[in-house]
Amino acid sequence: MIPAELLPPRLHLASTPTPLQKMERLSRQAGVEIFFKRDDFTGSELSGNKIRKLEFLLADALAKGADTVITCGGAQSNHCRATALAAVKAGLSSLLLLRASDPANPPALSGNILLDRLAGSEIVWVTPEQYRARDEIFEREARRLRSEGRRPYIIPEGGSTALGAWGYVAAMEELAADLRRLDGGRVTPTTVICAAGSGGTTAGLALGARLSGAEIRVVGVNVCDDRDYFVAIIDGICRDFCRTWPTEVMDAVPPYEIVDGYVGRGYALSRTEELAAVRDLVRLEGVVLDPVYTGKAYFGMLAELERHPQRFGRRIVFIHTGGLFGLFPIAEQLAGLV
Ligand SMILES: Cc1ncc(COP(=O)(O)O)c(C=O)c1O
Repeated sequence: MIPAELLPPRLHLASTPTPLQKMERLSRQAGVEIFFKRDDFTGSELSGNKIRKLEFLLADALAKGADTVITCGGAQSNHCRATALAAVKAGLSSLLLLRASDPANPPALSGNILLDRLAGSEIVWVTPEQYRARDEIFEREARRLRSEGRRPYIIPEGGSTALGAWGYVAAMEELAADLRRLDGGRVTPTTVICAAGSGGTTAGLALGARLSGAEIRVVGVNVCDDRDYFVAIIDGICRDFCRTWPTEVMDAVPPYEIVDGYVGRGYALSRTEELAAVRDLVRLEGVVLDPVYTGKAYFGMLAELERHPQRFGRRIVFIHTGGLFGLFPIAEQLAGLV
């Protein structure tokens, strides 16, 4: 149990607990038990993992008297879309730094971008090169907003900070309770697998698994960069978390694994075999993944299981972290597969 005095202030924005569903046909095919934790059910427009982090980050923004949140991501960022909509619910404005190869000709108004605009977010388009120096742009935009009498609050990429990680510390407590119910009290050894994009979900799950005391292995499949990059980020978040909220069990970086090798053509670029795996799951279980995160992580999980069927033990929980809106902008690429 998370000690109540440890839990930071939180807004209740996500529809939780989310269902834990067994994928019967997929489990039979794979020869191991596979469950999906349906974090794509955290909301309709708020769907996905980001809202769990934003419950803590937006509570902090409000506590600090902010009236506008600033955050960043790729053009079709789920995090930015969730921030834009959650900000409205919290009575805040939002400004999004979105990455595009040609900021003068930003991508079409579809998928998450359409929702960002519907939510009334101010969008600042930046090149991939400018994005690398996003902290400076955050500061520049924050200065501009302050000069207009506004009170900005910066949320780093993906909401992946120690405070944001609380979203998945709490989610792991929820999952451990799901598993206890399933198993009649104790938890059968389980491997939890998620997509790693900015690291906060993996970090939160690993911290939460340590806190739960259950035999739960945490695996992140990176969808960009490489293992070393994610270990540096996730270790950093965990160290920060343990420093800020120290407890007897939270005194060091908890164990987790990064399964590298499934970035494929690069961030947000899909290979035909990844999209075919997404399509096949829709036809097998009626569950729709996204191309950028869950589709890649799922493809990686299946590829690992094909090579070593017991690679993740006998029970897997795959976290469906949402992202459905990202399918629509690649309809043309999917057309040949459906
Ligand atoms: C749908 C989806 N799944 C997974 C992730 C990865 O989560 P994290 O950024 O916490 O690693 C993201 C965001 O990056 C996402 O939008």
